[in-house]
Amino acid sequence: MRLTILASLVTLAMADFASDLKLAQQCKFNLSAEPMPIHSHNDYTRATPLFEALSYGCLSVEADVWWVNDELEVGHVPTDLVQGKTLASLYIEPLVDLLKCQNKNPGGDGLNGIYSQNATQPLQLLIDVKTDGLTTWPHVVEALEPLRERGWLTFLANGTIHERAITVVGTGNTPLSLIEDTDTRDYFFDGPLNNVSNLTASVAPLASTNFFEDIGIVWQPWSPFLVANQIKKVQRQVDAAHALGIKARYWNTPGWPSGLRDGVMSTLWEQGNVDYLNADDLAAAVAVIKGESPKFIFYGPGTFLTDSQSD
Ligand SMILES: *[C@@H]1O[C@H](CO)[C@@H](O)[C@H](O)[C@H]1NC(C)=O
Ligand SMILES: *[C@@H]1O[C@H](CO)[C@@H](O)[C@H](O)[C@H]1NC(C)=O
Ligand SMILES: *[C@@H]1O[C@H](CO)[C@@H](O)[C@H](O)[C@H]1NC(C)=O
Ligand SMILES: *[C@@H]1O[C@H](CO)[C@@H](O)[C@H](O)[C@H]1NC(C)=O
Ligand SMILES: *[C@@H]1O[C@H](CO)[C@@H](O)[C@H](O)[C@H]1NC(C)=O
Repeated sequence: MRLTILASLVTLAMADFASDLKLAQQCKFNLSAEPMPIHSHNDYTRATPLFEALSYGCLSVEADVWWVNDELEVGHVPTDLVQGKTLASLYIEPLVDLLKCQNKNPGGDGLNGIYSQNATQPLQLLIDVKTDGLTTWPHVVEALEPLRERGWLTFLANGTIHERAITVVGTGNTPLSLIEDTDTRDYFFDGPLNNVSNLTASVAPLASTNFFEDIGIVWQPWSPFLVANQIKKVQRQVDAAHALGIKARYWNTPGWPSGLRDGVMSTLWEQGNVDYLNADDLAAAVAVIKGESPKFIFYGPGTFLTDSQSD
């Protein structure tokens, strides 16, 4: 009983961005989660943007940004936007607070990353530009300054990538030209996973593609859920990216039923060798990586069952 009350108190605290931010500023936010190759898709839609993903150990989080009202507002569609809910207030400033905590011990190099379990592992900040790219991207670069001035951004110089606490990758309308034509920079590009032929990892350390469009519908109700030629296509795309040192991610994977969602993630992880699972349900993605995902589902009339539907 006491555990339940404790758990609900923790849940309550989790549901409040302001209280997590306060914990972060007091160096009391728990950064001991095991780092997980999970991308927190549309992260800003969570009860506590950024902090919930960090509590699950996500190694990548996504913010959609719009250049409106002279600021970079964060939201999925224009009606989500609220003045002051910005890339800076939801992501950059909290990250600075957290990194100050991880680097407060005297004598360190000041370059520790977010997660206590692995100080050299960067957190990827995927910035999905929604408004015009050529107008918006320079404002993104400027907004990164609090991380940049402290040396916390992964950067490219003299042809070498130097990994730091935060790796910024632009997607959506991010203009490739503003990235590939710059040889000293601290931001990167999310390339097309279905055509990596003209990419390099110093431009695009990440490549992504739309699973539904590229790989297609999945319906097979048992593991591996994808049919053989779908698995082969995934493996061809991921291998081509890996041959260039580029990490691979699929978005728009099946979201329902949950058994199929988890089964497809599991196949992408175990047989597809993807580098990030794109997840809306972070707990489900953690379970997949820990090998706890379903091996079959039954489609029934109006219902479905899986062997991991207990929650
Ligand atoms: C912090 O999180 C880790 C991993 O999730 C957990 O094992 C640990 O108990 C937490 N520590 C505190 C003080 O809550
Ligand atoms: C820590 O992170 C680095 C950089 O991503 C990685 O190469 C290394 O394998 C990680 N170490 C452990 C113990 O996971
Ligand atoms: C890149 O090379 C230039 C010229 O050799 C040198 O001055 C600079 O320090 C190098 N930068 C880094 C980050 O290694
Ligand atoms: C792949 O991308 C390159 C540009 O980066 C383009 O020239 C080429 O036509 C594309 N190939 C396909 C099949 O889309
Ligand atoms: C893209 O790559 C293809 C195949 O490697 C090559 O033939 C083509 O010239 C490249 N296009 C550009 C724009 O670099």
